[in-house]
Amino acid sequence: MRYDFSKDHLIEAVDGILKRMQIDYLDFFLLHRPDPLMEPDEIAAAFDELQAAGKVRHFGVSNCNPNQVNLIQSAVDQKLMVNQLQFSVMHAGAIRAGLHVNMEDDASVDHDGGMIEYSRLHNMTIQAWSPYQYGLFEGPYIDNPKFPELNKKLQELADAKGSTKNGIATAWILRHPANMQVILGSMNKEHLTESIAGADVQLTKQEWYDLYFAAGNDLP
Ligand SMILES: NC(=O)c1ccc[n+]([C@@H]2O[C@H](COP(=O)([O-])OP(=O)(O)OC[C@H]3O[C@@H](n4cnc5c(N)ncnc54)[C@H](OP(=O)(O)O)[C@@H]3O)[C@@H](O)[C@H]2O)c1
Repeated sequence: MRYDFSKDHLIEAVDGILKRMQIDYLDFFLLHRPDPLMEPDEIAAAFDELQAAGKVRHFGVSNCNPNQVNLIQSAVDQKLMVNQLQFSVMHAGAIRAGLHVNMEDDASVDHDGGMIEYSRLHNMTIQAWSPYQYGLFEGPYIDNPKFPELNKKLQELADAKGSTKNGIATAWILRHPANMQVILGSMNKEHLTESIAGADVQLTKQEWYDLYFAAGNDLP
């Protein structure tokens, strides 16, 4: 079964992870993508049992909107501390919809239910997944000839700040005051080092907007 938030399944899933990884507990356990048939009381019972047994320390969700978080949180005692969402300069629908509120163009379509603002209001950390890929795993936009304007701007800022394109792409995510975390997936030492170094790069508001525009966005 793909998405199953029943008590038995959640407990079995954690037991399976602990066994496969040969570890005693998980720091974080996230419910991955909402189960439309979820029963919040069952989730609460599973979380209580997992925490009491010392198998999980903290909990969160993945790709949930504010009402889905509220629904789960209405039954669960433990605070849902994180939500994983796809977010980058090339996946900025949440920013676009926020800028185009009350308009009738495509950019005004809100795909996340205001999740960024919700996270800030509720002190919930967004973990930005696929920070260097465009589409749904279509490949990296960094050094991709399909995105000449964005790469030109990334390189320009990298040169100005003694960084790299990966570093600037990381800095764009971290510049947002929601205090997001960047969940990168590279197995390449050089890409990893460059990406992590972006945490030390400070972008001005203008530079943040310039990258947003270079990725093909505009203002209403
Ligand atoms: N919650 C969810 O729904 C969800 C969904 C998807 C992913 N995730 C999580 O997010 C993590 C990261 O996802 P991701 O792997 O898609 O993220 P990512 O870091 O954006 O993409 C990794 C890919 O980008 C390539 N890359 C990075 N920098 C590059 C550069 N300068 N030039 C060329 N290629 C470059 C990497 O190749 P190299 O290895 O060669 O560097 C790798 O193929 C996953 O491990 C997973 O834990 C969560």
